[in-house]
Amino acid sequence: MKIAKRIMQGSEKNYGMFDKAARRFGNDPDVIHLELGKPFSDTPLSIKQAAADALMRGDVHYSDFQGLRELREALAEKLVRQNKLDVTADDVLVTNGLTHASFASFFALVDEGDEVIMLAPYYPQHIGKIEMAGGVPVFVDLKKDDDFSIDIAAIEASITKRTKIIVLVNPSNPTGRVHTREELQQLADLAIRHDLVVFADEVYEDILYGEAQHISIGALPGMKARTVSMYAFTKSYAMDGWRIGYLTAPADMMPALMKITTSDVTHVNTFIQAGALAAITGPKHILDDLIEIDRKKRDVVVDALNRMPGVRCTLPAATMYAFADIRATGIASQTLAEMILESARVVVESGSFYGTAGEGFLRVCFSGNAQETLIEGMRRLDAFFTDLQRTPQ
Ligand SMILES: Cc1ncc(COP(=O)(O)O)c(C=O)c1O
Repeated sequence: MKIAKRIMQGSEKNYGMFDKAARRFGNDPDVIHLELGKPFSDTPLSIKQAAADALMRGDVHYSDFQGLRELREALAEKLVRQNKLDVTADDVLVTNGLTHASFASFFALVDEGDEVIMLAPYYPQHIGKIEMAGGVPVFVDLKKDDDFSIDIAAIEASITKRTKIIVLVNPSNPTGRVHTREELQQLADLAIRHDLVVFADEVYEDILYGEAQHISIGALPGMKARTVSMYAFTKSYAMDGWRIGYLTAPADMMPALMKITTSDVTHVNTFIQAGALAAITGPKHILDDLIEIDRKKRDVVVDALNRMPGVRCTLPAATMYAFADIRATGIASQTLAEMILESARVVVESGSFYGTAGEGFLRVCFSGNAQETLIEGMRRLDAFFTDLQRTPQ
């Protein structure tokens, strides 16, 4: 079959160590998977019940293309209260997860040859969407030795006449970093100065630990008209398989977004939206309880990593990832991840999967397993790094 050039251009879709592990060990239950960003908890019962009730009472038909009005009202209320965004239900579009929100947004704005700046290490799954829309991803490194803070001068130096969008993943996957108000203000000033749009992927906004505070860049002065803010129930509410998220975009972009989403999915599954409504209007402790489970796992994993020879890991302020510095081993991250798979039967993601800026690091997801499995994973990793130190490379 002669596949359309638009689809084939650019990089091949890469599933990283997940793919390597599957090809090497299939479904072997002895392999411990710490590479996927997948919640372990079940979706809270009240949310499942609301979706099941909607299904059973017959909410099985076509509904509002933009998303159920009641859900959009509740989401707008949350966006105003929590994210300090100046929006109404008319500015909200319900989508099939953040993947769909970002896909529609890239297709709505990217013209052939437009450049899209991604801060690296980056979330790789945005690349294919940019390329299929005809755009060119441009990678700008975060400051590796300054806790992956944003390098405004480097972004400014990479801007050309074709630059249209900056993608900001905040809190960041893979680094676990939450960007400060000062960083965001500088990025906002730069976007305004160069007339750029910011795509804010805020899928980890709720998974914050301790005193960490997340600020939505779309709430900063002058940013409303140039920010698409994207969210999902995926990570916060352990609803990754439900496929539901939402975005808010400037009003003049909504017709284009709706043209895309009514063409690809018509609208998001009607009774699934009842579950999302229960999540967003439900008691806050549901979210807090889920995050507390992750916090405990984070502490176990980061503490264990820091005891391993050749490994250093800062405590992530957010997300479900520990981004461990393995530069002291002198081994490239992909090689090391493959060695770990082979000898420890543990799958971690190489930092270089997130771009060359991630070289020297491994990403370990602490959310996706039961505590006992995580502890066993850490035991195996510890044995691996201890052996590595003893064996001259
Ligand atoms: C930064 C980031 N954006 C988007 C997604 C995808 O979200 P969804 O499953 O809601 O499409 C993920 C999932 O890992 C992610 O880490």
